[in-house]
Order: sequence, then structure tokens, then C-alpha cells
Amino acid sequence: MVSQGAVFEKMWSAIADIGRDPVTGGYRRFAWTAADLSMREWFAGECTSRGLDLVEDRIGNQWAWWGNPGSSGNGGIATGSHLDSVPDGGAFDGPLGVVSALAAIDWLRADGFQPRRPIAVVNFLDEEGARFGVSCVGSRIITGALSPDRARALRDGDGVTMAEAMRAVGRQPDQLGPDPEAVARIGSFVELHIEQGRGLIDLGRPIAVGNRLWAHGRWRIDIPGEPNHAGTTRLSDRRDAVIGCAHLVLAVRAAAERHGSLATIGKINVSPGGVNAIAGAATAWLDARAAEEDALSATVAEIGEHVRSTDSVMTEESRTPETVFEDALVSRLAGLLDGAPVMSTGAGHDAGILSNAGVPAAMIFVRNPTGVSHSPAEWAEPDDCLTGVAALARVLADLAGDEQ
Ligand code: HGY
Ligand code: MN
Ligand code: MN
Repeated sequence: MVSQGAVFEKMWSAIADIGRDPVTGGYRRFAWTAADLSMREWFAGECTSRGLDLVEDRIGNQWAWWGNPGSSGNGGIATGSHLDSVPDGGAFDGPLGVVSALAAIDWLRADGFQPRRPIAVVNFLDEEGARFGVSCVGSRIITGALSPDRARALRDGDGVTMAEAMRAVGRQPDQLGPDPEAVARIGSFVELHIEQGRGLIDLGRPIAVGNRLWAHGRWRIDIPGEPNHAGTTRLSDRRDAVIGCAHLVLAVRAAAERHGSLATIGKINVSPGGVNAIAGAATAWLDARAAEEDALSATVAEIGEHVRSTDSVMTEESRTPETVFEDALVSRLAGLLDGAPVMSTGAGHDAGILSNAGVPAAMIFVRNPTGVSHSPAEWAEPDDCLTGVAALARVLADLAGDEQ
């Protein structure tokens, strides 16, 4: 009998090198790229080897069912997460939820468990939005939170649209669209995810139940300038877009401090991008988040005022409201998990998109002893990972064990 730890480890090591940058050690698994396809292929192999019925929906989300999806009047129990990453992301953000879900099914089967409601493991497409700029694409499209036209037209840094990227890998972008039947097949969704902060370190606990996601969004800010020669243009004659970026970054930080929110400019494109040329244009992306909606709105409003005062243009790219998971499900999980702490997070997740579409959802967080995420430094101890799998297995057994 293969040990539970060995099962987990075997899956984990099988994906360890997919999309990993040899220099930074970070992952670059962007939607519809070779690394993403390799992860999807790995996932398909693991599901097929377990006899799960694997379906890729018309968006590109992969659903692997144990039992007939339509067999329960109350819907199935779905779990899973995503396999894509941010640029130079860590190993655990996303894959931990998918690997843990497969391992939990193995554990349940080893115990002879037979679900009364079907169980699905899902790999949501493009949760990070690292290539096309909008997060949770797979769950947003399926729930109608992102229009298919807008999704098809999203462009990556090379100007490739999502539609072109899909066609290049044999998918049909014309089929993108909401899928209410697929959403209706989900009775509850429980996403296991590495914690992306210090909460569990400070609590000294290996797992927690996630009950709330902060309000968060992404905005694009286009800053004008005038391209010119770095060596012949007087300072007084310059319209330097990078100076505009500098003022913006400081205004963003000041707004976050004033309103108790988090706001980040983590990506800036400058053109023409010559060392000896004054920037004629720049684009900066704002990521802003707050525990409360009005703090986020106040932060974004203040930044918007700064932007307007500098004849730049600010465009909202995505916005997710504060998400409160279904209290009954959260309490049920906390009860099942020996009074595990209940906590919120500033990170966004597909569970939040599903919850906002009316699907009862909750999360299980696994301790990250570094407290660092979206970085190669992200880490989870093997024992805590197995504690997470055991917790997920217990939750799935309870939720899929009765028709409630
Ligand atoms: O950005 C987030 O919060 C998540 O990692 N997509
Ligand atoms: Mn992430
Ligand atoms: Mn994630």
C-alpha cells in the first residue's frame, strides 16, 4: 500500500519542473502556453488514471468527476483550484489545491468511501490573469462575470488575443460563454489553497477555513509623454512619462496608507524603452484591495483624482466585490476541522467568483511558513500539506456523504 505522503509527493515531483525558470526558480505557467498545456496534460493523466470522467468545458476549465455529475438533485461537490501562475510565481499557489484534491480522492477510496453525491476536481483556466490581464478568467466566463467578447479580445504583451491563443492550441474561442448548466452541477465548492500571508504562522496552526475575500480589482493607467533625446533635451522642455509613473506610484502608496487598503503598481511598460530616449508613453497597472468595499472605493477614487490631474487615463480592468462565503458551509467546515481558525484573505480566488454567482463556497488554507507568495520563496511544509489533504478528504466525505 503506497503511503499517502508518497502519493502526494509523486504528483508534486511530476510537476515540479513544468514551467520553472532555471534562473529564478519561479514558475511561468501562463494561460494557453506550452507550460500551461503540460500542466493540463499532467492533470488529465492523473484524472484518467483514477478513472475520473474528465471534461474540458468550452472555456478550457477541466472538470474531473467521480460519479455522474447530474445524479444529485443538490448538485455535486466540487474542489480543486488552478494550475497557472503569476510571473515567477511559487510552486503552491494553485497546484496545491489541485494535487490535494486528487490525493484526497485517493484517501477516500483507500478508506472504501463511496460518495452519495458526485465529486469533481476542477482546474480553472487562467486564474492569475498573468498573460491577458484579467484574473479568474475560467470561473468568470462560466458564471457570466466576464463577457466572451471581452475575453476573446484580451491581448497579451505581444498583442496576441486570447482568441488567437486559443486557436493556436486547437480550442474554439467562438464557443466561449456562460455555462449555467455547468455551474448548476456544483452544489458546493471547497477550494484548498496555500495561505498567502502570515495568518497561520501567527496563529501557530496548520490549516484554517477561509470565510471571506477582500474587495479587489485591477486598473490600467496610461500616462502620456513626449519621446525625445535623453542627451539634448533640456529638463524644462521634457514631458517624461516615467516621471508621471513616479508621481503615480507615490500617489498610490499615499492613498493606500490614508484609506487602510493595499495598492500596488507591480507592472509598468515604458515606450519606446530606449536607455537614451525620454519615455513618450507609459502604462502602469494598479492592483488595489481592501477588507471593506468603501475603503477600496475611496482608495481608487483618490488615485483617480491624481490620474485626472495629470492628463493620464485610468481604465478598470476587473473588480471583484468583497466576497463573504456561505456561513452555513463555513461553519460546517470549521466544525469538521476540529475548530480550525476561520480567516479572510486579501487574495482573490475562483471560489470567490463562484460564491458571487450564488454557489455555496468556502476555502481551506494551508500554512505557508514564509508568509510569502507570488514568489519562488512561497513554501508549505510536507506535513502541513498532508494535514490539508486529510482536512479536504474529511470535508468531501461529509459533503458528498449525504444529500443535504
Ligand atoms: O491576485 C490574487 O489575489 C490571486 O493570486 N489571483
Ligand atoms: Mn495567485
Ligand atoms: Mn491562487
